Amino acid sequence: MNFSELKKSITTITESKSKTSNKLQSICDLLKAEVDYYNWAGFYFKNGDKNELKLAEFAGKPTEHVIIPFGKGICGQVAVSNQNFVVQDVTEQNNYISCGFQVKSEIVVPIFVNGKNIGQIDIDSHSTNPFSDKDEDFLEFVCKKVATLFDN
Ligand code: SME
Repeated sequence: MNFSELKKSITTITESKSKTSNKLQSICDLLKAEVDYYNWAGFYFKNGDKNELKLAEFAGKPTEHVIIPFGKGICGQVAVSNQNFVVQDVTEQNNYISCGFQVKSEIVVPIFVNGKNIGQIDIDSHSTNPFSDKDEDFLEFVCKKVATLFDN
C-alpha cells in the first residue's frame, strides 16, 4: 500500500465503531505490516498529570521503555518541543534511548488535541536514512486522525 492508500485505511479505522484502544492497535499493526521500513510502530501518551510518557498500543518487539520522562530520548524531547523529530541515524544522537541494536533510525510526530501535545506516534526502522517529507506528511495525517479520538 502506498501512503495515499494507507491514509484511506487510517480514516476507515478511526471512523469505525470499535474501541479507541482497538483502533490504535489496528493503526500500529497496519503501519508495521504495510511500510517495509517501519519495523516498530507505537503510541506514547502523557501519563496523567505527570511529566512523563507512557507506552500505549504498539506493534513490533516489546520494549522495556514503557515510561519515558519528558526530555529523555527522542520521545521525551518531542513531548517538550512539540515538533516532529526525524532521526535518520540514531548513532548521531546523544539523547537517545535504544530499543535494540537493530534500530537504526526513528521518527516521532506529536499528537495535538485543542493545541495541547497529548502524546505521539513513534516509528523505529532497521534502515539508516529511510525517511522523507512523505513520511512526515503521512504521520501528521495519522496523528490528526488519532487526535479526533480524544477530542471530546
Ligand atoms: N528510542 C526512543 C525510545 C522508545 S523506543 O524507540 C520504542 C527514544 O529515544 O525516545
